[in-house]
Amino acid sequence: PVSVYADQDAGSIEIAARIAALIVAKQEKREVAVLGLATGASPVKVYTELVRLHKEEGLSFKNVVTFNLDEYFPMSPTSDQSYVRFMKRHLFDHVDIAEENIHIPDGTIPVEEVHTFCESYEHKISSYGGIDIQLVGIGRTGHIGFNEPGSAPNSGTRLVTLDDLTRRDASRDFGGKENVPVKAITMGVGTIFKAKKILLMAWNEKKAAIVKQAVEGEISADIPATYLQLAAQVEVILDKDAASLLT
Ligand code: F6R
Repeated sequence: PVSVYADQDAGSIEIAARIAALIVAKQEKREVAVLGLATGASPVKVYTELVRLHKEEGLSFKNVVTFNLDEYFPMSPTSDQSYVRFMKRHLFDHVDIAEENIHIPDGTIPVEEVHTFCESYEHKISSYGGIDIQLVGIGRTGHIGFNEPGSAPNSGTRLVTLDDLTRRDASRDFGGKENVPVKAITMGVGTIFKAKKILLMAWNEKKAAIVKQAVEGEISADIPATYLQLAAQVEVILDKDAASLLT
């Protein structure tokens, strides 16, 4: 299903409310809520609202375990462009989540250990019973996570090469495309598919064309987000502008 909201604020508040409801329901059962998280511009207001719910409405993250979709490779966690810094700045530094419950692909491991790292990332997700809610954005290449065109529907967590367009889109954060890492570690399409619920969000007219292809286009490795058409547990949450080309 596709839900269209007036603007990014309204859509983000809805997503945050779903996440908060999950956290509270799990608390009542004394269970953990397992969240799959995204970075980039799209989820920023979701995190702002979650921080507000923590500070103003007492939402606790003590029973929350998180797995981020991806991280650049190589990438130091202390670098300003790292997704570790991003997550701290927008969410983790402002809520009561336990440090040991946070998982983000490690951009510092030696390349020959990446494969083992990726397998253990998958195992860790499974050890918590899988992801309850997975947040995903969509890149202009049609990537979800950093699963660029050509990614297989059953792909797992792995080291990938970023598409040129993805690096161009990231160039502002890095002060030039040449500074954007060429690779990243990402959860696979198959990893994302295992989540019990997948929320794909997109805001503003810059995403309208790729959203149309993802939602209405032929399912193809050329646009990995089209694979989501095969997942019954997906909900697409858009603002009016991102939805503007849908028929
Ligand atoms: C980020 C990620 C990417 C982004 C996508 C959209 O963790 O996995 O797939 O969701 O590139 O980026 P924004 O939201 O910046 O437009």
